[in-house]
Amino acid sequence: MHKHKSNPILDAKLDAVSLSIKQSIKNLDSFTHVRGESLYVDDVNIRQGTFHAVVFDAPKAHGHIKHIDYSKAEALEGVERIFTYKDIPGKNQIGGIIPDEPLFAEDDIHFWGMPIALIVAESEFIARKARALIEIDIEELPVITTAKQAKAKGSFINAPRSFSLGDSEKAFKDCEYVFEGETFSNGQEHLYIEAQGAYAEPLENGNIKITSSTQGPTAVQKTIAQVLGVAMHKIEVDVTRLGGGFGGKEDQATPWAVMTALATFHLNQSVKLILNRHDDLRMTGKRHPYESTYKIGLSKDLKIMAYEVEFLQNSGAAADLSPAIAERTLFHATNSYFVPHVKTTVISCKTNLPPNTAFRGFGGPQGMFVIESAIAKAACEIGVPARVIQEANLLDENDTFSYGQVAKKVEAKNTWSSATELFNITLLEQEVETFNANNSNFKKGLALMPITFGISFTNTPMNHARALVHIYLDGSIGISTAAVEMGQGVNTKMMQIASEVFSIPIEKIKIETTNTTRVANTSPSAASSTADLNGKATLKACKALLKRLISVASEDLNISEEHIQLKDEYVYTHGEKSNLSWTELISKTMLKRVALTENAHYATPEIHFDKTKEKGHPFAYHVYGTAIIIVTVDCTRGTYEFDAVKIVHDYGKSMSEGIDLGQVEGALAQGIGWMTMEEIAYNDEGRLLSNALSTYKIPDLFSVPKEVEVLPVKTDGHELAILKSKAVGEPPLMYGIGAYFALQNAIRAFNPKYDLKFHAPMTPEKVLMSLYENK
Ligand code: MTE
Ligand code: HPA
Ligand code: MOS
Repeated sequence: MHKHKSNPILDAKLDAVSLSIKQSIKNLDSFTHVRGESLYVDDVNIRQGTFHAVVFDAPKAHGHIKHIDYSKAEALEGVERIFTYKDIPGKNQIGGIIPDEPLFAEDDIHFWGMPIALIVAESEFIARKARALIEIDIEELPVITTAKQAKAKGSFINAPRSFSLGDSEKAFKDCEYVFEGETFSNGQEHLYIEAQGAYAEPLENGNIKITSSTQGPTAVQKTIAQVLGVAMHKIEVDVTRLGGGFGGKEDQATPWAVMTALATFHLNQSVKLILNRHDDLRMTGKRHPYESTYKIGLSKDLKIMAYEVEFLQNSGAAADLSPAIAERTLFHATNSYFVPHVKTTVISCKTNLPPNTAFRGFGGPQGMFVIESAIAKAACEIGVPARVIQEANLLDENDTFSYGQVAKKVEAKNTWSSATELFNITLLEQEVETFNANNSNFKKGLALMPITFGISFTNTPMNHARALVHIYLDGSIGISTAAVEMGQGVNTKMMQIASEVFSIPIEKIKIETTNTTRVANTSPSAASSTADLNGKATLKACKALLKRLISVASEDLNISEEHIQLKDEYVYTHGEKSNLSWTELISKTMLKRVALTENAHYATPEIHFDKTKEKGHPFAYHVYGTAIIIVTVDCTRGTYEFDAVKIVHDYGKSMSEGIDLGQVEGALAQGIGWMTMEEIAYNDEGRLLSNALSTYKIPDLFSVPKEVEVLPVKTDGHELAILKSKAVGEPPLMYGIGAYFALQNAIRAFNPKYDLKFHAPMTPEKVLMSLYENK
């Protein structure tokens, strides 16, 4: 590496590289998307002789396998081989946090859709045909589908966890008002457009390359190595982009990749496995349903003095990411409010559903739904609007969260007052009242939803990333990081960073595929932290290269470094354009044998958490915001339309306004879907009933709010956010929670006898029942 004398003036200038990023930049992936040229796993050019695979899965939710007869399936022409747990050379184990999940069932099955075998054939069609010929005899065992049933039977994933602050038991005694209640929030299907899948190909010396649709290439690599009993360096995982992940591919992209690798390992031939929609819906886990009980205590002036809650998480049949998700539920149990006395407990309940998994918000939304329900209940009983209680309890600077972190640069009140003032809440409320007074068959409801979401993996050791940046000798650049592009626009953000540091056009920069041989030992692209972590590493690498280039230019032009600047593909000296262009500078750097490659590592500073005390400073920063949601209910039909959602959101200083707005809008729609129409249904035998797009409804063009307005809050941003541009992937999903309470308010306007219920989603069917309850 070229050694560079430390130069404080230059260092200061580099630190201050003022990144006047082109904020209106488009998501650069959109060009290939709209032309149908973006590449997904199914688009990989497969080599001649590639086999196609289909998974044979459990046709019951719980039982003992007495006998399986593969003979007819194996005899079918074109079937190459059927793999079971007996073919696993290493460990039949894919559990990431807790080793409690086999790749293939051995003697017992624990959920409907649990993989038992992999059928490998000349075509997918043949493999499917063979699957229908497999005969299985199961001794059925009792099935648990709900968290409450699991709790009653003592069926748990791990020990419960509790956070506490102050003394809630004592505090309740001094409260003017105390209310208790129960809530339920259902699961949610990710419905990424690209279903789960992988393609494995054999390389020489027993090495295997896997193309996977995963958010976590390292998890895939590590698990394949473990299942095959080979070293990690034998396994290369490559990801171009995902057709959506939403958390569903943080952990659950792994088994399919492992299966293809296992078959390739044995057959020394390429194997492709892509789940069709039915298989994907049945075999994969979803957002965790939660059953919760709360107790909330308020003072006479409506301060929330004490809050206790027990969350029952329906974890499914194996841990998957449940313990981490449970933890985040506790972190967000008080949402945007300061509560001095808190006791929260989460119990991960083991049931016979597919293992539930990460989903945008990662347990946070489930936690926030409960406190918003508690506030709505309290407001109704006391006879004040919920927003009065919400407003009276918003977080302030230096308030302490139940987990010990002291809130800094808090924007809770700022986003709230900005939203209520900029959107004129008084007028909006008057409009709703007037409408309701003048209409008997239609009623409007309005609700406010503040959000506070912590940014960082809650598991501190995961908060790191690396970037490998090459400047090629023609001046073009290739960047490799751990960031997986899944539609959130992270590649565009990475390009913006390099473009800005070197002052060269975006066209000169390429983001390489996410590949475990170029960037190793990575955390998944998740926790909304991908751009922060990988962006900070990229920025560090680019700045190190820039420093080197300036040194070369200085020698070449015989001008001291602090007077040199790169601007618009030229070297500038004393602010004047020189004759030395970017490309020439790169050539000269090459000739001087100075490295044009840099590999940088970034680890989030300041964060820590002590699990023995359940206290610390787990988040780099928080993202804040406030949404106002207005709905109109058709009181004859129970159907409803969202008139408007008006948001003031804390982007920090957005580096890509178009992309970030897209994230807010998409997350909002997904949050509203979870709260209103997306209804996962399993029957008592544990069979998924909402197993197709005809029985599982997600928001479409007609059901999203008619008007969505998002304004940025005025703020300085945060140093730990990439270029002060805060993480945006997950937080806005939780604005959607307001949809539930807007509906409650509309129903109460029609039916004063309605007894508030907190049982999401609030489907039109439930709305209709509520409108006529006791009427
Ligand atoms: N946006 C799109 N279009 N597709 C996705 O799969 N995943 C969400 C969010 N936004 C997702 C998305 C989830 S769950 C997370 S954690 C973040 O993006 C991950 O990307 P980020 O860390 O770059 O925000
Ligand atoms: N968020 C999202 N994904 C994760 C986390 C988290 O906090 N921890 C582990 N995986
Ligand atoms: Mo997102 S649920 O952290 O993948």
